[in-house]
Amino acid sequence: PELVTVGELAEILDIGATEIIKILMMSGTMATINQQIDYETAEIVASELGYEVKAVKMEDVVTKILEEYDEEDTGNEVKRPPVVTVMGHVDHGKTSLLDRIRKANVTAGEAGGITQHIGAYTVTINGESITFIDTPGHEAFTAMRSRGAQMTDIAILVVAADDGVMPQTVEAINHVKAAGVPIIVAINKIDKEGANPERVKQELTEHNLVVEEWGGDVIAVPVSAKKGENIDTLLEMVLLVSEMGELTADPKRAARGSVIEAQVKKGKGATASLLVQQGTLHVGDSIISGMTYGKVRTMIDDKGKRIKKAGPSTPVEISGLSDIPVAGDDFIVLENEKEARQLAEKRREMEKDARQAKMRLSLDDLFTKIQ
Ligand code: GTP
Ligand code: MG
Repeated sequence: PELVTVGELAEILDIGATEIIKILMMSGTMATINQQIDYETAEIVASELGYEVKAVKMEDVVTKILEEYDEEDTGNEVKRPPVVTVMGHVDHGKTSLLDRIRKANVTAGEAGGITQHIGAYTVTINGESITFIDTPGHEAFTAMRSRGAQMTDIAILVVAADDGVMPQTVEAINHVKAAGVPIIVAINKIDKEGANPERVKQELTEHNLVVEEWGGDVIAVPVSAKKGENIDTLLEMVLLVSEMGELTADPKRAARGSVIEAQVKKGKGATASLLVQQGTLHVGDSIISGMTYGKVRTMIDDKGKRIKKAGPSTPVEISGLSDIPVAGDDFIVLENEKEARQLAEKRREMEKDARQAKMRLSLDDLFTKIQ
């Protein structure tokens, strides 16, 4: 895998790129600063420069697991629900839109149970499940928008029709484009006086999002989260785009996914909202995420109900972790808790060493990048 450029490696090792180019030249490789080099070459360069490359062995465990996942079709792949992230500028109505979708979806018996447990929910529309993730629009939450774009299959970009394209709209567009994810635009608040959906479409073209009626390929649906107008059309579009993606996962595998958010909760200790992306997560599974490890002690679904297992595209909240993991990090299931703990401890040690060595990025970062 070619995953680090000469320039990036220079930054990680805190050394001039020309030094690295020289070493590569001595071993017969002509390289430029933007050239991508593979894991082994990076390792050789690092050891030439006197770095002890001790990350290799312990990370092998993780690498192996990830490689297994990347192998083609296990024969057990089945359709999975799309993961849809709702993004947009502050106050443009992302949470209102999700609330509206959920309210239309719950049966009478469930109604009391609707509380925002984990910022992510699965709803069923015409027998098809969709998992939604909410994100904040405030400018301080750039990282959340970036992560949201990365863990999603489809992005709904909410733009208020009375306000138009704003800075965090543009930022969200850029994250989504970088992640290569399809965008559906929800032009919201069309019930409001001063709403101007046509102006929104015009502004979107300035960011290379041309709506279908103007000859482009971007689906835009004018909606009102407040009045419930056109929400069904929006959901139909989500299902349509999702069908085209042919999303599958193997529920029989060990789970792998991402951390949506994490916090310490009274009486529960460290808890994390996880999105299971592949496989099935079970109570009792040993997981690692960054430098955090643990055995899943309890697991609750998006309605606050205790569950024992969670399949692909399911958001859950778990307890049983040593510490709170970092939102946006991956998690994987390991063989047992001991393995998870040892790996987490090694990562922690390396972090410390790296800090002491005053490296700008730790070697762990290097190897995460390389995976
Ligand atoms: P952040 O999470 O802070 O970025 O905001 P948000 O995008 O989640 O917006 P939120 O759903 O909190 O809505 C912001 C305000 O807009 C609230 O006062 C809503 O009642 C109002 N609002 C949302 N959707 C509509 C709509 O369709 N029409 C009208 N008139 N008001 C709306
Ligand atoms: Mg909100």
